[in-house]
Amino acid sequence: MAEIAQLIISENTHELPVITGSEGEKAIDISKLRDQSGYVTLDIGYKNTGATKSAITFLDGEKGILKYRGYSIEELAEKSTFIEVAYLLIYGSLPTADQLNDFQYQLSRHTLVHEDMKKFFDGFPQRSHPMGQLSSLVCAMSAFYPESLKSNQTTEEVNLSIVKMLAKMSTLVSWIYKKSLGHPYIYPQNKFDYVTNYLHMTFGQRTEQVEIDPVIVSAMNKLLILHADHEQNCSTSTVRIVGSSDSNIYASISAGISALWGPLHGGANQAVIEMLEKIQEDGGDTDKWIAKAKDKNDPFRLMGFGHRVYKNFDPRAKIIKKACDEILEKLGVNDEVLEIAKKLEEVALKDPYFVERKLYPNVDFYSGIIYRALGFPTDMFTVLFALGRLPGWIAQWKEMKENKEPIGRPRQIYVGETDRSYVELNQR
Ligand code: CMC
Repeated sequence: MAEIAQLIISENTHELPVITGSEGEKAIDISKLRDQSGYVTLDIGYKNTGATKSAITFLDGEKGILKYRGYSIEELAEKSTFIEVAYLLIYGSLPTADQLNDFQYQLSRHTLVHEDMKKFFDGFPQRSHPMGQLSSLVCAMSAFYPESLKSNQTTEEVNLSIVKMLAKMSTLVSWIYKKSLGHPYIYPQNKFDYVTNYLHMTFGQRTEQVEIDPVIVSAMNKLLILHADHEQNCSTSTVRIVGSSDSNIYASISAGISALWGPLHGGANQAVIEMLEKIQEDGGDTDKWIAKAKDKNDPFRLMGFGHRVYKNFDPRAKIIKKACDEILEKLGVNDEVLEIAKKLEEVALKDPYFVERKLYPNVDFYSGIIYRALGFPTDMFTVLFALGRLPGWIAQWKEMKENKEPIGRPRQIYVGETDRSYVELNQR
């Protein structure tokens, strides 16, 4: 018999259907509650609200499980490539060899961006934050590829927009980096796979042939896979809600990039390194900084610690920590900041404040150390997160469209003034 929840409000009992997900999680469907009772639910920050039914990513924050389309993140990070994972997220299953070749071929055909887009780079101040540049550039793509504005695109048209979005993003991200250096842009080359092409445009030079180290290609694939999706987080929910008004893919992804920028979300990877550098400059006294993080009168938080959903450990952080050790060793990098990070983690994991609140290192705690070792400047870190998260945003946008979800529009409880009469200016 189907499970039913009962809600008693005064003398009235309301029956609400219970929905069970494929991994056994349960939800009470309150979509008809207001019609039945006149009540809405209130959940500031959506801490306990399911906004959609999704078949893309499953995570269990208590057990530290993360799966894309049923495949564990551990297995994908070890065996797969970023572009294969992108296909999996967007189209629902791992590609056959032919599908993968075709996908890679399509992507390589669309990496060039319109030459006029380069004028945006001329307009940005050299030191402007890469995330502001990326969000603007991605939204501007809608001006260059106006077919994306059409409502009711055919499947082929949607797929073309998806390929353009993925392909051109890697070019834009690498050109943002080149702009920050004042170096000439490197054009994409079709002979490379997606990640190698991106690294080539980033670290290549017009003046000499630069070989991209396979260690770096492999590290980058792993990092991008780990960031590729994370169900209904702040930026993904933003992409879905913007897309639900029938906004085009570029505008929707651009909004997601803006949401990711904040230090409580993707911007944490930049904030972590800045924090570690500050602790290093301050003499490396981790106890002092742990005490600051615990002090309620001090706004300082231990960046890279805590997560809205993971209350045991972040499985991505486990993989990244191991990868970080391996990459630094392979590249022969000895980073003092890594030692500070390890000391902070050790102290925090034993401290009752962090234990009681279930605060563990998250994905951003170690990713910045790897990006630093690979030679990326700190303010590029969140852009790299965006490059990784792109397939997830696209998959979620596509799912929302295919499910014909209604426009996202939460309700509120109004707590402001009631019934005031207008007072003329000279009488206020
Ligand atoms: N340092 C010190 N105290 C913390 C921290 C921290 N990093 N995170 C949470 N707390 C405390 C917080 O003060 C609160 O204490 P109390 O119960 O005494 O008031 C308690 O832990 C619960 O915190 P919350 O802010 O209610 O939890 P939340 O689920 O709303 O926030 C979070 C989650 C990720 C925003 C938060 O843990 C945080 O600000 N962490 C640092 C920023 C960070 O690393 N963000 C990256 C998240 S992972 C990447 C991504 O997917 O975006």
